[in-house]
Amino acid sequence: MSLLIALHTLAAVIWVGGMFFAYMALRPAAVHVLESEHRSRLWCHTLSRFLAWVWGCVIVLLATGYGMIGVYFGGMANVGWHVHAMQGIGLVMMLLFLHTFFAPYRRLKLAVSAGDYPEAARRVGQIRRFVGINLILGLVVVAIATGGQYL
Ligand code: HEM
Repeated sequence: MSLLIALHTLAAVIWVGGMFFAYMALRPAAVHVLESEHRSRLWCHTLSRFLAWVWGCVIVLLATGYGMIGVYFGGMANVGWHVHAMQGIGLVMMLLFLHTFFAPYRRLKLAVSAGDYPEAARRVGQIRRFVGINLILGLVVVAIATGGQYL
């Protein structure tokens, strides 16, 4: 259990912390410093690295989350409300991530490689909205996962 919960929490920290940094620090700094064309290219290269990590985090969260439920809790019937809430909100976060990866991020890459920077900027705007939603959901999940078990 200690290894599973440690990996689970590390994956949550990498995913949610990465979104916090991107949204709260890198995004406003990039708007301040860079022209639209360079901004789109920066996001394309930044996201190609960060989203690869998010794939890993999603796989680890699912494997360790359901691993703990199956091995240590003996099924969903025996877990607290905080785990049900975590699972529900966590699955919504993963669906939003999949949508972001396969729709606006894929189109951002196509637009950048075609040199279509107005289109790339539109896609960056869409990704920003999805990451903003997922960041709020991620912070809520962490608060519920940690504090919820003591309510
Ligand atoms: C989607 C499927 C998920 C499942 C099935 C799941 C399952 C679990 C389980 C069984 C625990 C142990 C609970 C306990 O000891 O009472 C746990 C803990 C935790 N989960 Fe999840 N989880 C999921 C997604 C997420 C996501 C998306 C995040 C954050 C982004 C997250 C963050 C955490 C944290 C921070 C803990 C540690 C709580 C603590 O012991 O203080 N989980 N999870």
